[in-house]
Amino acid sequence: MIQFLLNDEMIELKSFAPSLSVLDWLRTKMGKVGSKEGCASGDCGACTVVVGDLIEGKWHYKSVNACLSLLGNLHGKHLITIEALTSKMNPDVEDLHPVQRAMVECHGSQCGFCTPGFIMSLFVLYMNHTTYPGRKTVIQALGGNLCRCTGYEPILKAAEKCFSYDNEPAKNIAHEDHRFTQQVKVLTESLQSALEANSIPLIENGDQHFYLPQNLAQLCELKAAHPQAQFVAGATDLSVEFSQRLSYQDQLISVRYCPELMQFTSDQSGLHIGAALPYSEFITCFCDVYPEAHELFERLGSLQVRNAGSLGGSIANASPIGDPAPLLIALNATLELHSTSGKRMIDLAEFFIDYRKTQLAKDEVIVAIHIPKRTATFKLSCHKISKRIEDDISAVCLVLAYQYDNDQMQQVRCAMGGMAATPALATNVAGMLESKAFSLENLQLAAEKIEIDFQPLSDVRASSEYRIQVSKNLFSRIWYQGQEKPQFKSVNVQITNAAPIIQTRISHAAL
Ligand SMILES: Cc1cc2nc3c(=O)[nH]c(=O)nc-3n(C[C@H](O)[C@H](O)[C@H](O)COP(=O)(O)OP(=O)(O)OC[C@H]3O[C@@H](n4cnc5c(N)ncnc54)[C@H](O)[C@@H]3O)c2cc1C
Ligand code: FES
Ligand code: FES
Repeated sequence: MIQFLLNDEMIELKSFAPSLSVLDWLRTKMGKVGSKEGCASGDCGACTVVVGDLIEGKWHYKSVNACLSLLGNLHGKHLITIEALTSKMNPDVEDLHPVQRAMVECHGSQCGFCTPGFIMSLFVLYMNHTTYPGRKTVIQALGGNLCRCTGYEPILKAAEKCFSYDNEPAKNIAHEDHRFTQQVKVLTESLQSALEANSIPLIENGDQHFYLPQNLAQLCELKAAHPQAQFVAGATDLSVEFSQRLSYQDQLISVRYCPELMQFTSDQSGLHIGAALPYSEFITCFCDVYPEAHELFERLGSLQVRNAGSLGGSIANASPIGDPAPLLIALNATLELHSTSGKRMIDLAEFFIDYRKTQLAKDEVIVAIHIPKRTATFKLSCHKISKRIEDDISAVCLVLAYQYDNDQMQQVRCAMGGMAATPALATNVAGMLESKAFSLENLQLAAEKIEIDFQPLSDVRASSEYRIQVSKNLFSRIWYQGQEKPQFKSVNVQITNAAPIIQTRISHAAL
């Protein structure tokens, strides 16, 4: 059985298809049709809902795509849908939530199909900020919501206006006078005690199962007992298989409830990222150490996708166009894999064997990604080429990393995505740069070696010729950006010898 809160109601479910999405459940089983289905693949945001995670006794809310989220992964969460935002069935403007009122007053809706999704993205932004957070943050929050008729300016105006009303109830959902608080408080307590009694939650539907192991040992044992079962983290890749290819799974094991896979730590040896931790929970800490990677992460899918997707999912999926792999390969990352036979470590650069084939054994799970400690002479440059800025997959991703010592590039690593069947190192390019000065001429000479390292395919995203040419051009961009940004001349990242241990999350099992 799984238990969670739906708006201000406690839900207990024992049986449903493991691949059932939150959106299908809401619309077909609960009659809550306010959340819309546009694309069923995470691209339009019409299905956006808000999900709360209970971490150390406090709810933390974020937007996710209901079409990608699996119902089983709602265990212990608080799901808020568009239906919860007003108290009456036919509200007049005064009864609307401030976000809805601002959308009405700013004319932010025409046909209205996208509107519930925009409202939910704005609602969680409103909950998490006490004042208008600025246009850039709003655009980030709405990057996964498409509107084909209104135009975005009225919606951006509404995002600002909703923060301007006087005498509104406290903006943060945690505040005492918020309309959810009293009921949610009572329900949270009963949810917590119910969860403590429920050791390994399981959904059974005939011979279909959705397992929710609460620690790594349970997870490895379940995988050994059910080798055909598939792991699921944020389901941002897996759900697309379900909805677009109609390729469903009868046995799923969620990796989201194991504390070992849900933490981020920084210590003397480097960064350690739990394989199941959603992107949005570690990007800030990661970019404190590697600010050069900020744009790459900021442009990975939409906020809804980053709120759900994980590094473990991306790496296991082994897509040639996944953005994290080139970055992590360039950073010389190591994967920690576990099974009932024990633990092994493997360099990420050697993990990918062929198109969507990896060295992961049938009974293994990716537990963590380890990145060596950044040194004072370390330089990094990350580039994503895609057709759109927001919510678009790479045509090409290039990451260059090296130590800059004695006016020379040393230990050069250049990793690329979109250029071959797997993300891979550009060894000839790196060889040309090794022990060379950081100059336009040297970078352009190295760029000529790209054609030796890769013979990319042509597909819907880009032709082979375009991929080669744009990659070469990126080396010139790296030099010009190096002239603008001082980090290529001197260190701009503070490296301390005694880096504090940062832990973003202790565990879900605390629920
Ligand atoms: C609209 C949209 C936009 C996107 N944009 C981008 C983008 O810009 N850049 C990009 O790189 N990606 C993008 N993606 C892809 C996706 O979000 C990422 O690949 C994500 O990191 C997958 O993580 P997940 O937790 O959702 O994986 P899931 O879907 O849960 O799992 C994916 C695969 O990994 C396996 N798996 C999951 N966790 C583990 C584990 N710990 N050990 C072993 N196997 C595991 C699962 O069995 C499954 O086969 C996008 C996806 C969508 C839907
Ligand atoms: S229906 Fe389009 S993102 Fe979910
Ligand atoms: S109002 Fe019609 S799609 Fe946005």
